[in-house]
Amino acid sequence: MARYSQNSIREVARRNDIVDVVSSYVKLKRNGNSHTGLCPFHKEKTPSFHVSEDKQLYYCFGCGAGGNLFDFIMKIENLDFVDALKFLAQRAGVTLEEEKGAYVPTKEETDAKQRVYEMNVLAARHFVENLRDPSATLAHAYVKKRGLGKDTITRFGIGYAKDDWSDLCDFLKQKGYTEQEIVTAGLAVKNEKGRVYDKFRNRLMFPIINVRGNVVAFGGRALGDDPAKYMNSPETPVFHKGSNVYNLNNAKQYGRKDGLILVEGYMDVASLHQSGIENAIAGLGTAFTPEQATLLKRYAGQIFVCYDGDEAGQNAALKAIDILAEAGNKIKVVRFSGAKDPDEYIAKKGAESFRKCIADAVSAVEFKIMSARNDFDLTDVDGKIAFVTRAANILSKIDSQIEREAYVNRIAAESGISANAILTEINKLIYREGKKTTQNAKYAERREDEQASQAVSTEASGQIATYKAERMLLNVIFFQRKAFELAKEELSGDLFAGVEHRKIYEAMLTYKLENPEADASDFLSYVDEPLKKTVAAILYREYECDSLQAAKDMIKKLKGELMNSKIKQLAKEGKAEEVQALIKKYAERRG
Ligand code: CTP
Ligand code: MN
Repeated sequence: MARYSQNSIREVARRNDIVDVVSSYVKLKRNGNSHTGLCPFHKEKTPSFHVSEDKQLYYCFGCGAGGNLFDFIMKIENLDFVDALKFLAQRAGVTLEEEKGAYVPTKEETDAKQRVYEMNVLAARHFVENLRDPSATLAHAYVKKRGLGKDTITRFGIGYAKDDWSDLCDFLKQKGYTEQEIVTAGLAVKNEKGRVYDKFRNRLMFPIINVRGNVVAFGGRALGDDPAKYMNSPETPVFHKGSNVYNLNNAKQYGRKDGLILVEGYMDVASLHQSGIENAIAGLGTAFTPEQATLLKRYAGQIFVCYDGDEAGQNAALKAIDILAEAGNKIKVVRFSGAKDPDEYIAKKGAESFRKCIADAVSAVEFKIMSARNDFDLTDVDGKIAFVTRAANILSKIDSQIEREAYVNRIAAESGISANAILTEINKLIYREGKKTTQNAKYAERREDEQASQAVSTEASGQIATYKAERMLLNVIFFQRKAFELAKEELSGDLFAGVEHRKIYEAMLTYKLENPEADASDFLSYVDEPLKKTVAAILYREYECDSLQAAKDMIKKLKGELMNSKIKQLAKEGKAEEVQALIKKYAERRG
């Protein structure tokens, strides 16, 4: 059976939103943090089928059906996993890559990758040589025009692809690589007639180097008015566009201390570097991806989003902000005027002025409000109302009431609508969301009570309270990193009374240790079929409590209960000394 790479599977999951997918089968209504509808898997008149956009899970409180995106399609279309994967890949236009031999690449694959890396290094050096050649007068003129100095060129390994169909191919063939290999590396292209020619021609070449220091791809800037101003390497065995960031290899050392400045273009990065600002990075021409955001989280204490000033740039910034935030990054947005991008800004106003822009960077909320302000005509009553409504929406998502009020006062001042009215609107939005969330939580709890009493009557050892506590504990351990750390140290699986709960706990430990960033939907793909429903039921819940404290208390309680039953057992057997020892040990641990 075909086996697809984890990357493909993740890509399919990311490109299909569960709410979208389910919506083509079930009429869903947004309801707080859930989307609800009539369950397609059992007959019902009132909706108990819930879909969570955040967690990318579905769960029916009526029949207990539950799972992730793939489970839903498998069940409703009656497909096995591979066919469900293909179905969803097609829906989102993802090309599945097969993986031979599960996770371990074969020797051939490793060798093939190795050869691509080698070709990339050779190509990078060759481009550098080309640029050094005195005959490359056009390239020299361009470099001069863009103000790129010698040091910058060396630092970034910038080179030149000649205006020639076979310069690089000839060079690499002479080094012992076949045409097919050069095509696979994305350095050459094969046309319909089977002719192979250099992909990059008459371009200034920027090697893209990953954090491990390997040249993984190239970006090429046209020297003339080629309609394709920039050309990037295609996907290759060593390059996935969505998972690399330009110049992170150099900038990462500054990320924790100074943060990273995210700009749009290679030239922006180079100009900033040239004026002494070395912590700039750039995406690779495509829209910023969640994978890139996760990568940055590893290196950056703070990200300064500094996109081009035009409308396209500002819209891209709004999107990037949400993606960056989603991955847990701290964000500020840099604003500048009088130039189209950081490169031009530096040329016109100099580095000091740019540093000032960085120092004056605004919060993501501030930026969103500014951009809302731009979208409406504030001299007009309707415009004002639309602006304030949008702003209220943005502000309703902030947790801190103090922060919220600070913004409200300003918006009131500029719109002429009273702060009171704006606050009322915000509170209404918060209340509406909160109320729905509370309703969902109460409903879930009631259903769980019913399920608990059923389960407990079949599982003699359990008690309803323990059953519920264990489920809550599993939920908290899954979603709260600190609770997970605590459980890992303190909690062994046999403390769980429920057999299923024990198995789920053990699966969770194994899985989370290897995949610390994994989400609920990933975990569901991992657990064994018989456990899926229960896992979905557990992970679907939202608990309103100080979760870490709750986890601590529960772990303590479960340990106490187990200890008690052990002590009773030993006492029955008349082993007084062991009972004493155990009691002492327990008392010490508590103290
Ligand atoms: N880009 C791309 N393909 C294009 C245009 C842009 O891949 N046709 C990517 C490149 O990675 C580029 C970045 O988007 O570095 C920023 O593009 P843009 O702002 O258009 O480039 P400029 O900064 O104007 O580039 P230059 O200064 O070289 O004209
Ligand atoms: Mn630009």
